[in-house]
Amino acid sequence: MSEAAVNALRYRPDFIDVNMGCPAPKVVKSGGGSALLKNPELAERIVEAVKSVSSVPVSAKFRIGWDENSKNHVAFAKALEAGGADFITVHGRTRAQMYAPPVDLAAIAEVKKSVRIPVIGNGDIYTPEEAKKMYDITGCDFIMIGRGALGNPWLFGQINEYLARGVLLPLPDAEEKMRMMLLHARKICEYKGEKIGVCETRKHALWYVKGIRGAAQLRNRFSTIRTLDELETLAEAVCGVK
Ligand SMILES: Cc1cc2nc3c(=O)[nH]c(=O)nc-3n(C[C@H](O)[C@H](O)[C@H](O)COP(=O)(O)O)c2cc1C
Repeated sequence: MSEAAVNALRYRPDFIDVNMGCPAPKVVKSGGGSALLKNPELAERIVEAVKSVSSVPVSAKFRIGWDENSKNHVAFAKALEAGGADFITVHGRTRAQMYAPPVDLAAIAEVKKSVRIPVIGNGDIYTPEEAKKMYDITGCDFIMIGRGALGNPWLFGQINEYLARGVLLPLPDAEEKMRMMLLHARKICEYKGEKIGVCETRKHALWYVKGIRGAAQLRNRFSTIRTLDELETLAEAVCGVK
């Protein structure tokens, strides 16, 4: 892990996060990701190893336990802190839950109370109200958003506005969604080239069109686009955006 950290540092990251929450069978099978929940001592040594070579902050992200009968979030958080983690992120589910509800906010609150380093709360935040609930119930220092941001990058601004002023901003209309989708698609293509970029864009396009009236009939076409031109034509068909 210290060798991996040295490699990662070549890319000049702001911090290094060690993923101790991934539930994927192929990752868990070799002892990685959330399999580490079964071995807090090893998790602590991993943080120590990364920390020993890192010039930037080191964090770890984990779940609240392997399964319902072996929740060990407090002991695990303490082990990471003892290993030298600068902050930690808790996804309030067990490995056995995968992505099924509910997210255990009380467990995240217990983690927050048990360590001195900053705690980031994570899991099922899709709305400004859910973001506030995560802060209020857990007392966490920051929140992290995963799936809620897919097709909805406005969520961050909406949450900030709600937390600062209690205002729920209106959701973007179809035109704004299509504009953002095209901007996003162009950025992906700029970064990865059009061929791979357009492939990756398909899933994002489907997330962006979710909820737009009339878009349901175009879903199949969105999932088979091959060029940016085709995507632009489809966006135009949805709402006249170029
Ligand atoms: C498709 C997918 C890929 C993910 N990849 C990562 C990853 O590479 N590293 C990581 O720490 N978490 C990863 N996660 C977990 C998320 O960061 C997050 O903990 C989880 O989705 C719960 O938050 P959410 O309910 O806001 O999505 C992934 C989740 C999904 C659905």
